[in-house]
Parts: sequence; C-alpha cells; structure tokens
Amino acid sequence: MIIDTHTHLFVKQFDKDRDETVRRAKDVGVEKFLLPNIDSSTIDRLLRTADAYPGEMFPMMGLHPTSVKENYREELARIEKALSERPYYGIGEIGMDFYWDTAFAKEQEEVFRTQLNWAKELDLPVSIHIRETFPQVLRILREEQDGRLRGVLHCFTGTYEQALEALDLNMWLGIGGVVTFKNGKIDRFLDRIPVERLVVETDAPWLTPAPYRGKRNEPAYIKFIVDKLAEIYGTTPKEIACLTTHNAMDVFGELE
Ligand code: NI
Repeated sequence: MIIDTHTHLFVKQFDKDRDETVRRAKDVGVEKFLLPNIDSSTIDRLLRTADAYPGEMFPMMGLHPTSVKENYREELARIEKALSERPYYGIGEIGMDFYWDTAFAKEQEEVFRTQLNWAKELDLPVSIHIRETFPQVLRILREEQDGRLRGVLHCFTGTYEQALEALDLNMWLGIGGVVTFKNGKIDRFLDRIPVERLVVETDAPWLTPAPYRGKRNEPAYIKFIVDKLAEIYGTTPKEIACLTTHNAMDVFGELE
C-alpha cells in the first residue's frame, strides 16, 4: 500500500476523469490520498471530493502562501471557520513562497505562524510549501517548535544540511517528482538521510516526475518516485512503499 501524502485531486484538472485517475492509482498500489487545501475558493471542491471517496481521501485545511494577498485576514478567517466545522487530517498547505512574489513577504510570515499555532492547538501535522524560502521557513520553525509541531516539508528541494535541520525540527521530507529530475540534486544525498524520515507524494496535477515531465501529474506516477528511491537506497520498490506508508502514518495517523 502507498499513501500519496500531498495531492490536489480536487482541482478542476481532474473533473473529467477523477474516477479513472483514482483507479489508475489503485492499480499501482496507491490506496490513500491526503488532499491539501489551497485557499477559501477551493474548500467546497476539496470537501466534495474527499466526501466522494470516504476512507480513501483525507482533507487538510490551510491557506497556501501564494494566496496571501491584501485580503489575507478574511482568507484566514474563512480557513479558521472551516477548521471548526469538521475534522481535518492536517494543516496544509502552508508555508512561504518568494518565487512568484515578495510583495506580501511579511504577511506570508504572519499567516504561516498563525497556522503553525493552529496545528499546535489542534495537535495536527503540517504540510509545508517552501519556494526560495528555506532560510526563512527553517528559522520560523525553529522559533515556533515547542515540542508540539510535526509535519512534512512538502516537495523537498533543499540541501543535505537543510534536510538535517528539518529532521531536527521534527519534520519529515516529502519526496516528489523532483527526485526523478536530472538537475533535482536531492538524489545525490538522500541515501545519507534515514529512510524512516521520508514520505512520498505527487503534488498532482503539478510537478510531474520523469519520464512524464510536462504532462499533467497524477497519483499513479508515484511509482516513478518509489522506483527512484529504491535505486537510491539499494532496495526494492515494495520495501520503499511499505516503509514510507508506515512513515506517513507516523505523521498523519492511521487514516481510517
Ligand atoms: Ni501542493
């Protein structure tokens, strides 16, 4: 069994073939999917999709850093309200992104800290997005970690040193399509990271692994990520699937 720990199956890119996409995922052993929210405009879709696949899809709630704009306080209030209305399996996706825009850097930090504190209060894991913000995110995690934070640095693209720091901060590394990229770099040091601290994910429909780079991503392609990890760790894909599923449950719970 494989758990795709970060997949946006609720977005419109899957409206035409969601059932078939899920079936293809199951054909390669993916049985559970964690769905990170994006912002207030995606909550309805997120919940409709999760509820259509009970016991298979598990929603997280959060405000994505690229959706932090002038109206961020209203956005946060909507996310907080949603969190109070039903159970969620994590706070996500949250984090900081300076790749697209740094105009709201200060607001991004405030929103990130607020959501980290919700995770602590609710005892939920976090799914963290980092783009050109490794130093900032690691600093904030260091300041906010009081023993109650756990989660995943989703789509990990950092250095070996940043990976070690993440582990020290009680974070797991979310390994996605980047591990299959020729210039992805993380494949060069992952064998020095304990496999117990890795989870796998697709971030579908984005970040498609090789050999399908450029096409729409889908959870079935997690196979290429598992295969690559097996090669890096000198073991079998079956063993990687089993270990990373166990790890995902350590972070997110039994998911039933
Ligand atoms: Ni994502």
